[in-house]
Amino acid sequence: MTLQPDVVVIGAGAAGLMCALTAGYAGRRVLVLDHANKAGRKILMSGGGRCNFTNLASGPANFFSDNPRFCISALKRYRPEHFVELVERHGVEYVEKAPGQLFCADSARALLGVLLTECDWAGVEIRLKTSVDRIERLGEGMRLETSAGRIDTGAVVVATGGLSIPTMGASGFGYDVARQFALAVTETRPALVPFTLTSRWKERSAELAGVACDVRVRALRDGEPRGDYREPMLFTHRGLSGPGMLQISSHWQPGDELAIDLLPGVPAFEALAAARRETPRRQLSSWLAERLPKRLAQALIEWHGGDGVLAERSNAELSRWAERLNDWRLKPAGTEGWRTAEVTLGGVDTRAVSSKTFAVNDLPQLRFIGEVLDVTGELGGHNFQWAWASGVACGNAL
Ligand code: FDA
Repeated sequence: MTLQPDVVVIGAGAAGLMCALTAGYAGRRVLVLDHANKAGRKILMSGGGRCNFTNLASGPANFFSDNPRFCISALKRYRPEHFVELVERHGVEYVEKAPGQLFCADSARALLGVLLTECDWAGVEIRLKTSVDRIERLGEGMRLETSAGRIDTGAVVVATGGLSIPTMGASGFGYDVARQFALAVTETRPALVPFTLTSRWKERSAELAGVACDVRVRALRDGEPRGDYREPMLFTHRGLSGPGMLQISSHWQPGDELAIDLLPGVPAFEALAAARRETPRRQLSSWLAERLPKRLAQALIEWHGGDGVLAERSNAELSRWAERLNDWRLKPAGTEGWRTAEVTLGGVDTRAVSSKTFAVNDLPQLRFIGEVLDVTGELGGHNFQWAWASGVACGNAL
């Protein structure tokens, strides 16, 4: 770019690229800077390499924030169908893997290709391997000192994402910029992240690594439930993962218990008592194996004291089994942390930012979009929908 850019977007991720192409089409000269050597690395690694790029049912109720109404305006103005229209226009095939959750049929590369092509068409310049060392206000504009020299511009959009997966270029840079300009940053913690377990449960989970089952899970703090999901759970070598566990991790805090129902929708005591009445010679293990993965059913029998025919089980025993099945309580040691978390809970406090333009109140030449803000989605395509919606809202207002 030979001319001074009207807008510098810091971060060539989902939100930054979307904002850049929107502002580019609106006639702005846009320069995107990223310190990584590739644009959109999280897009490429997301959804197992196929990117769950939106959720048709995405709405404000799918987001966590200290300021829950902030996300409403942008999500209303740029909806999942708008992004689907863009994807279809580029002929990218997609599939609905779970209700509402849209993934690329082949590879996330196709989706990143859409964004880079659109940026190109909109005249956006993207400079990779460029770090920003300093930002300061310059009258009505901003001045950046970067590894590629000084850049003066009309506006800076901070789209540097959250802290998860530091090896992919994540940094706390956006939070530092916010603090520099006297904005508050709410407490950040890893979310959509697997749980780790302590010694005995860790060993047991490791034995079952790879086994998955449908569960209902809640987090309990002082006995009070937080979050409630019915989705699969996966045993791993370190602990528990799978969509159900990732979802509940956004509600969980150290010290909280998990209450896991291994037979969601089946009142285990009543079901066991009926089986004892109707098929008294049936082994407990065979009853369990019909309802749970075989390896888990076997492990439960080993952990809790052997098999036997249902007729020989007292009501007290059935009731203990029902509790293990419908209300298995365990306290995770922690989570796998930033290394594997999909997102960051918390971030730049949105109370100092316009929900229409994403400009900082009293400093319109500075804007924040995407995951760097204190807006975090549930699992299932909501986080990308936020990146698109906040990027478009900001890009249109530049
Ligand atoms: P994003 O992190 O995408 O981009 C930030 C950019 O800023 C990066 O390119 C980074 O290099 C750059 N940057 C950071 N610091 C910088 C600095 N100091 N200077 C210059 N550049 C800097 N969501 C979803 O909806 N569906 C899914 O399937 C998944 N799957 C998934 C899997 C995994 C493994 C992860 C880690 C995450 C997901 N997510 C997801 C979450 C989703 O990837 C995330 O919410 C969005 O990428 C956030 O978009 P942003 O543009 O805000 O940040």
